Amino acid sequence: MADILVVGSANADLVVEVDTRPGAGETVLGSDLRTLSGGKGANQAVAAAKLGASVSLLAAVGADAHGRFLLSELDSAGVNIAAVRESDRPTGVALITVTEDGENSIVVAPGANSALSVADVDAQAAEIGAAKVLLGSAEVPARVLEHAVDLAVSAGVRPVLNLAPATALSGPTLAALDPLVVNEHEAAWLLSRHTGADLSADPEELAKGLGRLGVRSLVITLGARGALIAEGGRCREIPAPPVRAVDTTGAGDAFCGALAVRLAAGATLADAAAYAVRVAAISVTRPGAQSSYPRAEELS
Ligand code: RIB
Repeated sequence: MADILVVGSANADLVVEVDTRPGAGETVLGSDLRTLSGGKGANQAVAAAKLGASVSLLAAVGADAHGRFLLSELDSAGVNIAAVRESDRPTGVALITVTEDGENSIVVAPGANSALSVADVDAQAAEIGAAKVLLGSAEVPARVLEHAVDLAVSAGVRPVLNLAPATALSGPTLAALDPLVVNEHEAAWLLSRHTGADLSADPEELAKGLGRLGVRSLVITLGARGALIAEGGRCREIPAPPVRAVDTTGAGDAFCGALAVRLAAGATLADAAAYAVRVAAISVTRPGAQSSYPRAEELS
């Protein structure tokens, strides 16, 4: 049984470096194609495993070459893949462009990730109940996340969810999260959906607004600026070390994996977030997602 049970996506990341992104109707030439192991769930699981945690991944891949590649990469990184099931849908694929400033744009074809089901969650009820932290992300169906959070809460397991991409979840699920992790855009989307308010300018205002929705604790990731945490009605900024970014792909997933590692070890949210911003900062200095994640020794 693992300390961290991750429920989420696994994608083959097809990455091309470009000088500029194509606009509508435009074609641009880029670098040679690289195929990397990705997907927000798999990335979070690998980030946590590389930091020394025991981690299981609940996910779905297709019976194809991408699926076999992802399973092999997860296994090599030390993630328990017993709960990654084979689907008759194709393995998820992410089409990623990266520009010289390290920024990325991503289109995901979810494929097998969409086939992950409530029954798959039920089949892992014992694993969920034995974990210290359940960690989720939103490239799998919302009902799957909601059910996994319900099982975790019933078993006294801490539910942590990165609502990326922004997705509608039930009020009780949002309220149970400890913490909900979002970036500024996702936070603004969530608030606007629930209250109609447009508070996109100020992270502290966003945090206060989400607090009024009953969210138990919250992390708003702020990219190069670090993160803002909110719990018990109080906000605190956690600054990130300055770095030169070459590829920000999967930095949010690195943050969440690291956050879960420290929370599973009993750290406070502030201490866990301080560790997570350091891990995410290292990740952006190297290309790719999983390939960019540091091992625990690099953090000492
Ligand atoms: O967060 C980065 C990830 O988003 C990539 O690995 C890609 O697969 C998409 O899921």
